[in-house]
Amino acid sequence: MSGAYPSHIGIIMDGNGRWAKMRGLPRIEGHRRGEEAIMEAVRVCAEHHVKALSLFAFSTENWERPEEEVRFLVNMSRDVLRKRMEEFMRLGVRLRHIGRRDRLPPEILAWFDMAYEVTRHNRGLNLNINFNYGGRGEIVDAARKLAAEARMGRVSCAEIDEARLAGLLYAPDLPDIDLLIRTAGEMRISNFMLWRLARSRIMVTPVLWPDFGRTELEGMVSEYLRAEALADSDYGGSPEG
Ligand code: IPE
Ligand code: IPE
Ligand code: MG
Repeated sequence: MSGAYPSHIGIIMDGNGRWAKMRGLPRIEGHRRGEEAIMEAVRVCAEHHVKALSLFAFSTENWERPEEEVRFLVNMSRDVLRKRMEEFMRLGVRLRHIGRRDRLPPEILAWFDMAYEVTRHNRGLNLNINFNYGGRGEIVDAARKLAAEARMGRVSCAEIDEARLAGLLYAPDLPDIDLLIRTAGEMRISNFMLWRLARSRIMVTPVLWPDFGRTELEGMVSEYLRAEALADSDYGGSPEG
């Protein structure tokens, strides 16, 4: 089997609200229960030497949710960092916030910055928390930086190409996403890492995020490997095409 293990996995963690509703609980209870699923995904990816895992935790569209839910999600990002830092260190994880800084309270930004500083010399999994993140916004922000460079005469129109623009994304060193997983059954991208998804394999599971564990993730990666190996064999075994 020549299919390579995915270097970069993206996950749209969906279905927390439905998980709670099915149990007659408030939506935030679903988010709370999603924390263990986050940690399990991080452990599995760290163990399997995946280079990067990007988790969609809060979209720029999610500000439209009820105030109480928004507040819970924003504070939860801080609480997870606080509570789990020791384990992140033990796993050798490098943490990074991906998204816009505007609208996020200074205290939360300070936690993201601290997590980045404390873990930046680790050698394991790059764990990206997409928070206040939108895929179109990221491309717009890159275009703005490019326009500023052009204005200063550092780049001409003819020199603008994919590599140049990609170099101005929020985390320019990240590889493209090989495998995008979405839980809770919706066949939607929801403005997640649009640039990095250009050539990704997309896999959707009906399992709701709080129920998504090791078995589910490992199962989906195995399926990914099978599908990639099959696609490769169509070209006589050459993986690039
Ligand atoms: C995903 O679960 C978590 C976030 C988007 C923050 P949802 O809250 O979207 O859950 P559903 O889609 O309502 O079930
Ligand atoms: C996508 O889920 C965003 C996150 C997982 C943070 P949503 O539930 O917000 O997206 P839609 O409503 O299905 O587009
Ligand atoms: Mg949802």
